[in-house]
Amino acid sequence: MPVAQSAAPFAQPLGIPQGPPHSPSVIRVSEIISALSYALDLTEGQPMGHSVRACMIGMRIGRHLGLGTSDLGDLYYALLLKDAGCSSNSSRLFHTLNADEIRAKGDVKTTDWTRVGWESLQYAVTHVATGAPFLERVRTLVRVAAKQQTESCELARIRCERGASIARLMGFPEWVAAAIHSLDEHWNGRGYPDGLRGKDIPLFSRIMLLAQTLEVFLVNRGPEAALDVARQRSGRWFDPELVQAVESLALMGRLWRDLDSAHILSDVIALEPEERQVMADEETLDRICLAFAEVIDAKSPFTYRHSNGVADAAVTISRGLGLSAPEITFIRRVSLLHDLGKLGVSNTILEKPGKLTQEEFEVVKKHPYHSYEILRRIRGFEEMSRVAGAHHERLDGSGYFRRWNADQLSLPMRIVAVADVYDALVAKRPYRDAMPVETALDIIRKETPRALDPRCYEVLASAAMNLPSPGLASGTVQ
Ligand SMILES: [Fe+2]
Ligand SMILES: [Fe+2]
Repeated sequence: MPVAQSAAPFAQPLGIPQGPPHSPSVIRVSEIISALSYALDLTEGQPMGHSVRACMIGMRIGRHLGLGTSDLGDLYYALLLKDAGCSSNSSRLFHTLNADEIRAKGDVKTTDWTRVGWESLQYAVTHVATGAPFLERVRTLVRVAAKQQTESCELARIRCERGASIARLMGFPEWVAAAIHSLDEHWNGRGYPDGLRGKDIPLFSRIMLLAQTLEVFLVNRGPEAALDVARQRSGRWFDPELVQAVESLALMGRLWRDLDSAHILSDVIALEPEERQVMADEETLDRICLAFAEVIDAKSPFTYRHSNGVADAAVTISRGLGLSAPEITFIRRVSLLHDLGKLGVSNTILEKPGKLTQEEFEVVKKHPYHSYEILRRIRGFEEMSRVAGAHHERLDGSGYFRRWNADQLSLPMRIVAVADVYDALVAKRPYRDAMPVETALDIIRKETPRALDPRCYEVLASAAMNLPSPGLASGTVQ
């Protein structure tokens, strides 16, 4: 068919950036992590840039306290990755509340949930079983209220443990992992998950909790309200000495400076202490991609290991097509990150057992756009952003989000698209069981050459039996 015949020849350059200034060896880790933190903001129901702004506030507090360069270097990454475990409790929170967990996560940050009263009651009423009939809502509210203490602790534990393990997986020091683990501990010992009190809580965690709260109130209610909350919760949530440091910084006009800058991403990259700057070598890049693939896949039990599964299938196709080693590395990394934007899709949609409404499908259709938007901010990742953003495009123009057609779809885009469909079909979904490999391949074959690339299908079909079964984590850096 004409659509498939216009496919780019194998020999055509993939457009993968090579050599300076785009060589991975000259990219700083801070450039990558700062940009990827925007994906964590999506999951937390925060405006994009929340982690970056919280990092700037936290680093100002750290500097005001006179922390040394080494500590500031670790604090920097702990601040940027504080929400690395955010996706791991999304599914459980959704099932607990029976409502949109992204909205609940976003609003909980402006609620003093440790005090039983009007504020926490109002939060429960507006976030629990919001779409359910009246009696079911009441039943869910009662159940949530009865288990609130143990459930909150468990949710925090899942998130903290996963966040810390993601930091370790990326190769950050134990201080960084420990700081992320204790993010939700409160000065008065009533935080989660271990009920640590006062200076038993790591200093970085105390700074991070204060910085993230200041940022959320700054953006939602302005600087005065942010300072008021810090004062009101001093000695309960926050270390009083840190609140004093914040008061001093505000008086000197340094606390909020340039947080609304259009160049905030480059400002936060420049904040990493020069002596501690980490460059992203090949192994580090692989670790970061694998770690963020875990963040993405932890969002829902139905996408468990999806990013790794797509990477396995895409690498298999790439090898079969005779691509070079750097090209295969590129394909593997983009496959691991292709669904970054899914972190912004609520589990009410991801785990819906039935057909999506038009409105819900419109939300789903935005996820490749978000993958593109996040990755394009990283210098040297421009081509990766284009390929990730195109993973739901189809050769006949029937895909999304740009409705590109065969003339616009490069070989890497076609490879990732076929690998994505394959892994989705052989995995269990909320609305159907996992398909046998033969059935999945048959469905893909019927989509060629109209929508999916026939050469990618043929290579996959000849090698699919050798791919790891869905659900088996490979856990290795290739
Ligand atoms: Fe996707
Ligand atoms: Fe996908």
